[in-house]
Amino acid sequence: MTRILIVDDEETIRLALRKFLRSRGYEVEIAGSGEQAMQILENGAFSLMLCDVRMPGMTGVQLVPLAREKDQDLAIIMLTAVNDAATATEVLSAGASDYLMKPVELADLQQAVDRALLKRTELIESRRLDMLIREEVALRTAELEAEKESLRLMSVSIAETLINAMEAKDVYLRGHSQRVAELAGQLAEEIGLDPVISEELRVAGRLHDVGKIGIREAILNKPGRLTSEEFEHVKQHVQIGLGILAPLFHLKKPLKYVEHHHERWDGTGYPLGLAGEAIPMGARILCAADTFDALTSKRAYREPLEPQAALEHLRIDSGKQFDPCVYDALVSVITKRLATDSWKDR
Ligand SMILES: [Fe+2]
Ligand SMILES: [Fe+2]
Repeated sequence: MTRILIVDDEETIRLALRKFLRSRGYEVEIAGSGEQAMQILENGAFSLMLCDVRMPGMTGVQLVPLAREKDQDLAIIMLTAVNDAATATEVLSAGASDYLMKPVELADLQQAVDRALLKRTELIESRRLDMLIREEVALRTAELEAEKESLRLMSVSIAETLINAMEAKDVYLRGHSQRVAELAGQLAEEIGLDPVISEELRVAGRLHDVGKIGIREAILNKPGRLTSEEFEHVKQHVQIGLGILAPLFHLKKPLKYVEHHHERWDGTGYPLGLAGEAIPMGARILCAADTFDALTSKRAYREPLEPQAALEHLRIDSGKQFDPCVYDALVSVITKRLATDSWKDR
């Protein structure tokens, strides 16, 4: 049953209003002051409060915000003997939904009560809808995020499957991507870069040569020097790789490193011939890790170099092919590995 609280300091009015509203089927409580009204509100929920403006002690204007604080859904109709626009504005802005002039016409009261209760129901309903919508949106957003994450993982693992297939065919390439990934990650750590960049490099390392799947095997394993036409063909592995990896657009940074892993510090590399710090740091690191791993791995046309010999061999390229600071990091990482004997595990 709808509960209404009547607050008025004049007993005759309280009783007359209660009688009328009870006859209309409402459950009605009465309070003779703002203080008493607060106590009653404390102990039970009401849909509507009819409230006198002028009362000794707490006035109706003071009571309204306190009552609303207790119950934000409470509809409030003010009763005022004063035909005064200022008071009306004040009570409405304090949170009342309507006001009636005393003496109250019962027909007006019935209409005002109906309006206030309807408005209250609508407010509650629209808030409930709002909440439902917000919950639904949050739920859908979480689902979309989860879908995106699983797509991301799936696409990385598809690219890795491709690389594994490629490396399985080519004994000389076997394990290359994984080793480059590990070394590049360590180089970034040695240089003191953000751990995020190490992680990006571990991803880029695994993916950097995926484009070799599009290069003729005979050329990849050709003993001796490549003709310039063959070299142009090999260079295409970068673009082919980027094409394969394009759907992984969330891996923006790793793909940048892949794109530029054959640039040289002196600007004579490919695909763009970027020089110095125009080359992304991650790509400079990837380049050094890649070259070092190639030299220390067996190829169809040569035996692998020992790590120390490879470092010596590459020294002359510091400042030419390599960023000198990356070359220095390579020397320290490899020297540490040799010292801790972790070389054997590779
Ligand atoms: Fe490459
Ligand atoms: Fe490579």
